[in-house]
Amino acid sequence: MLSQQETKREQWGSRIGFILACLGSAVGLGNVWRFSTTAGENGGGAFILVYLLIILFIGIPVVMAEFTIGRKSQSDAVGSFQKLAPGKPWFIAGFLGVAASFIILSFYGVVAGWVMKYFFGYLTGSLVNVPENDFTGYFVSFIGKTAEPIIWQFIFMALTVGIVVVGVKKGIEAANKVLMPLLGVLLIILAIYSLTLGGAKEGLTFLFSPDWSKLADPHLYLAALGQAFFSLSLGMGALITYGSYLSKENKLPTAALSVGALDTLVALTAGILIFPAVFAFGLDPAGGAGLVFMTLPNVFDQMPLGAVAGAAFFFLLFAAALTSAVSLLEVAVAYFMRKFSWGRKQAVLIIGSIIFVLGIPSSLSQGAVPITIMGKDFLTFMDELSGNVFLPLGGLIIALFIGWGWKKTDALRDSDLGDTLIGNIWIWCVRILAPVGILLIFLNKIGIVG
Ligand code: TRP
Repeated sequence: MLSQQETKREQWGSRIGFILACLGSAVGLGNVWRFSTTAGENGGGAFILVYLLIILFIGIPVVMAEFTIGRKSQSDAVGSFQKLAPGKPWFIAGFLGVAASFIILSFYGVVAGWVMKYFFGYLTGSLVNVPENDFTGYFVSFIGKTAEPIIWQFIFMALTVGIVVVGVKKGIEAANKVLMPLLGVLLIILAIYSLTLGGAKEGLTFLFSPDWSKLADPHLYLAALGQAFFSLSLGMGALITYGSYLSKENKLPTAALSVGALDTLVALTAGILIFPAVFAFGLDPAGGAGLVFMTLPNVFDQMPLGAVAGAAFFFLLFAAALTSAVSLLEVAVAYFMRKFSWGRKQAVLIIGSIIFVLGIPSSLSQGAVPITIMGKDFLTFMDELSGNVFLPLGGLIIALFIGWGWKKTDALRDSDLGDTLIGNIWIWCVRILAPVGILLIFLNKIGIVG
């Protein structure tokens, strides 16, 4: 039943190209913007502890599961399940994933647009000469405008569309190889600098010394779970899709581990950059979605060559966001191309346009028009709906699929782990630990257990 299209699927150029593309997908606004917002709102240290445990015992095992499914099936998020388990309902996870890709990219494009605005702000000097260094005022008045943020969002989406049209290998793989290491180096330099600004002690205490009483809040666990899935690009078939462009000779476990470890390292480094500055400049760590945009300009303002550093930082964050956005779009594109036999160009243009329009309410909800759902502005609502509901639910089904839908011997073989200690720990994680963990966090949150 292999169609022409499937036998001719695109492939990564190299193993390292695959790892970098997955890393490019993982490292994005999630590590800097969303991580600092979520960690800040959930009290810091205790959140981070739970986050790290979830990455290790739920996140990385589910990354392995997605890679295994994708490489085995050589198909997209929905097709993978239909091919490997015809007639069974597992493919629902794929549909959730495609839906999540629309939701996430819609608001992701808005925030990435803010990042672009800040990059140009440093290039042109408008962020260097902000009156009285009121960066909070600058940010709030910018996102409260009607047209300007939407124009930036449009530019960002157009760039994403442009890359996905060209195809996976030449566009994304090439850019990632240069830009991701640069981002890492700049983050480290800035983090060290931020530690000299006077808020180091408070910032580090906030991040790394847990306030145990916070562990009583059920929302903390859901927020950490959602953040782990969001940051690892997990639970919506992005890594299934990327794994499907991999040939059988490539080994999966080291790839999963490197992606998990490096993504987490980037998030923690961003935290070490942001939180000392939050305290040094007297901001509120629970300040919400604007934290990064209100904090970092203060750091650049104090720094020698701050305008250059600011431009470089927001450029690299933009690049990181772009490689993540590309993976979000690719999930939907790969599915629609197969399902409706669309060409790549047609699929990318149609889906990209729909997602752009879907993002407009998120943009407007930041001050121009009060669009709220369940007491949250539309952007935050979409963010939490996708991160805290769709992704963990998708991850739950994916874990169950490998853990219970596959024979253990097949799963061990197809994941390259083999019948080893690590292999058996992995099976145990996807069979029991991850599903039970995710379910308990859901039930705890709605007050059924705990
Ligand atoms: N992981 C990306 C980030 O941290 C966002 C992202 C890209 C994503 N692809 C995804 C999130 C797939 C969930 C699923 O910014």
